Amino acid sequence: MSSRDSFSGRFGIIAAAVGSAIGLGNVWRFPYVCGEYGGGAFLLIYLLCVVLMGLPIMLAEFSIGRRAQSNAYRAFRKLSPAKPWYLIGVMGIVAAFVILSFYSAVGGWTIEYFIRSVSDNMSGDHAQQFKNFIATSYLPLIYQFIFIALSFAIVMLGVKKGIESSSKILMPLLLLLLLILCIRSVTMDGASEGLIFLLKPDFSKITIDSVLCAMGQAFFSLSLGMGCMITYGSYIKRNENLTYIAGMVAGADTLIALLAGIAIFPAAMALGIQPDSGPGLVFITLPGMFEQITGGMVFSTCFFLLLSIAAITSAISLLEVIVSFCVEELHIKRKPATLLVSLCVFLLGTICSLSLGIIPELSLFGKSFFDLMDFSSSNLLLPIGGLFIAIYVGWIMKKRFTARELTEGGVKNYLFIRLFFFLIRYIAPIAIIVVFISRLLRSDL
Ligand code: TRP
Repeated sequence: MSSRDSFSGRFGIIAAAVGSAIGLGNVWRFPYVCGEYGGGAFLLIYLLCVVLMGLPIMLAEFSIGRRAQSNAYRAFRKLSPAKPWYLIGVMGIVAAFVILSFYSAVGGWTIEYFIRSVSDNMSGDHAQQFKNFIATSYLPLIYQFIFIALSFAIVMLGVKKGIESSSKILMPLLLLLLLILCIRSVTMDGASEGLIFLLKPDFSKITIDSVLCAMGQAFFSLSLGMGCMITYGSYIKRNENLTYIAGMVAGADTLIALLAGIAIFPAAMALGIQPDSGPGLVFITLPGMFEQITGGMVFSTCFFLLLSIAAITSAISLLEVIVSFCVEELHIKRKPATLLVSLCVFLLGTICSLSLGIIPELSLFGKSFFDLMDFSSSNLLLPIGGLFIAIYVGWIMKKRFTARELTEGGVKNYLFIRLFFFLIRYIAPIAIIVVFISRLLRSDL
């Protein structure tokens, strides 16, 4: 993506942004944190975060990108030279590394489960199987390597065609398959308890931790807070409607997360799996459900294949942020840059994987290295990035420039612009700061 017009029109850019947003965040991370933080109450706060912070910040990122016509780092250098705003771009690079380290591990698990489905090697005690796989062998590292190598190959060959076509055909397929799984899940014996868990908020379960995690999950799932959507914004043509695109991306992303929740919690409850089973939740629940579907193996194969592809399209959007920085700012050639970045990701990722498995000593602050990377990226780096992006667009970038980005090719509704500025100037930044401060006041880590 070295030239700035690499996507073919509106559908291309929506497909690419949706491809980035939809991934393991929706199907793996959402159910696992939602289960850990109390179900319905978490879902409600999550939806609020998507509407009140996610949407305006996505629009803000698109506006910065389209105005500056460049990657996040260069965008701030161009728009505010001699001011340290470009550090948002630098922080984004760090966040991308941190996310990729555990993302590639989970991407590897997905590939492993795809291969298991193909070879029909899935019966028995799924929780135990997952544990054995993660904790007792080097196998996860091999799959993690395969996951990174696949993403690497796509980034090196240039992304456009791959992302576009995969999102156009495969994301709707993933949606369809998830719908089928939802139907199966809610018709299992004892499923209603899971539906109630997901859909009926139990307000006594709201804690500052659950609010922080719901906020972090919104940033993570929508690919916000680290400049990814700034770069995509730079590819959006002037005659396109940014609000429409942001709405489509956030809508599709939220729909997939919701469906993943409906596919997983009823089945988990029916199978006697605790919703707070942690990062393995999806990988122990779904195989159990596939066993109860006629032709389960076919479904299972398709599902884990589609999920692997969704994970890869997200991973390349992260990899691309780092690689384009190396190419455009450090003037390293694309091939060696991609190779170098992938290698670093693999090294960091190895530590993540091993910390869940054979070297549990790899921990800090009472959290495994894996959890630490997961927690610090979503709950710290991304919201901090989002906070500064909101402040930048709300208070620093000239209002008429932002208004121009919003109205050009889009809504010319005065009320809408006022609403946007209200959210981006006050609601989003204040909410992020309040959540952070409340969490700090509860001083234990
Ligand atoms: N949103 C992706 C997912 O849900 C992950 C992702 C891709 C991401 N690019 C990002 C997260 C940029 C944060 C920032 O799986």
